Amino acid sequence: MGKKIAVIGTGYVGLVTGVGLADFGNKVICVDIDRAKINMLNHGQIPIYEPGLKEIMDKNVREGRLSFSTDIANAIQRSEVIFIGVGTPPKENGEADLSYVESAVESIAENLNDYKVIVTKSTVPIGTNRWIKEKIIEKSGKTNFNVISNPEFLREGKAVHDFFHPDRVVIGYESEKAKEIMKDVYRSLYLIETPFVFCNLETAELIKYASNAFLATKITFINQIANLCEAVGADVHVVAKAMGMDGRISPKFLHPGPGYGGSCFPKDTKALVQIGKRYGVEMSLVNEVIRANEEQKKRMVIKLERMLGNLKGKTIGILGLAFKAGTDDMRESPAIVIINELLKKGAKIKVHDPQAEENARKIFGDLIEHHDNEYKAMKDADALVILTEWNQYRSLDLEIASKLMKGNIILDTRNIFDPLKTRELGFVYEGVGRK
Ligand code: UGA
Repeated sequence: MGKKIAVIGTGYVGLVTGVGLADFGNKVICVDIDRAKINMLNHGQIPIYEPGLKEIMDKNVREGRLSFSTDIANAIQRSEVIFIGVGTPPKENGEADLSYVESAVESIAENLNDYKVIVTKSTVPIGTNRWIKEKIIEKSGKTNFNVISNPEFLREGKAVHDFFHPDRVVIGYESEKAKEIMKDVYRSLYLIETPFVFCNLETAELIKYASNAFLATKITFINQIANLCEAVGADVHVVAKAMGMDGRISPKFLHPGPGYGGSCFPKDTKALVQIGKRYGVEMSLVNEVIRANEEQKKRMVIKLERMLGNLKGKTIGILGLAFKAGTDDMRESPAIVIINELLKKGAKIKVHDPQAEENARKIFGDLIEHHDNEYKAMKDADALVILTEWNQYRSLDLEIASKLMKGNIILDTRNIFDPLKTRELGFVYEGVGRK
């Protein structure tokens, strides 16, 4: 028999977790204070773009294992396991803002009728789970609960796959009873021998930050190697491939580009530096990664300037705004920094993105021209810049592009085109880290 579960927060983490846990056979209520979101979900609409999620959500709602509500008190009272999946956005100084976690914790303390396991899914600074425990004891005067740190490792756009096929499940725990309940919650994964890492709360919290900071470092490393490749005439893809053949390095996350973005790497690297500061341990490497990643974004504008000369009055067609393909998310997307720099330099910007247009309008409004078709975005452009590696751009008809464009310059920051073929068509082409 599945567990009765409440998931607080229907953002990215909360929603995918709730839907996935219901599919494992648990009975899940997803709650949020945002009425509009709950309304949407109750009408079968998903507030985020995540391939495959809707089908599984619909199935579990139909089969009576999944529901959505704004009644947080009731959801907590009727559940044995409470997942906290609210946002922890960065504050001005880079620290994680825990106010949503705090309000979830208050609701839990007010509604602690029976024994409960309180599971933190949100990415939270080291020590937060211990703080949650103390806070609940202080507010409720009760100790009939246990806390669990269960960080998530989902990638946007691949979240459904990642939820059902995780590389590992990390469970930070203090009590054996809670540990056994977590095995039950994840029984489907436990049975197919997904690796489980059981550890203390602080270790689980740190695993999440260390993993994201390491991946951000890996990307930044290959970006700097790519920059060096350009200078010495080497090909970064061959370098990365050969490096990746060493099992200790692995070929993944060695794809160069305009810098990492998204809601996680930028936030978590900054938070790790702040955590280090708090404990007097210098995270100098991660600090440098953050700086180098900012440079990488700006470097794309410098490259374009080198190719095109003075940008004032030039028309730039941009394909891709999302921080990566497969999502409509523009949080910390390199496109934001790059477009702002281009605007500052007096360029006229025409853009297309298959998913992120709505988010782009919120950020740029009418400062840039939005187009619903990639070919419209490049019409009369002096240069074409690829910022997101959407598959539909890979099969772009470059002959049509050359007819539509005024100029013949292509800056491909994701290396999606074949340099030789592109040049054969008469384009002046540059990618990242290869000739
Ligand atoms: C990342 C992690 O991959 C997840 O494991 C983690 O759960 C998640 O953060 C999180 O903390 O919630 P995500 O932000 O969805 O997932 O995106 P990634 O696929 O990791 O890409 C992040 C950025 O790195 C993107 O801007 C992408 O374009 C860039 N990237 C990635 C590269 O430039 N090169 C690569 O080789 C890989």
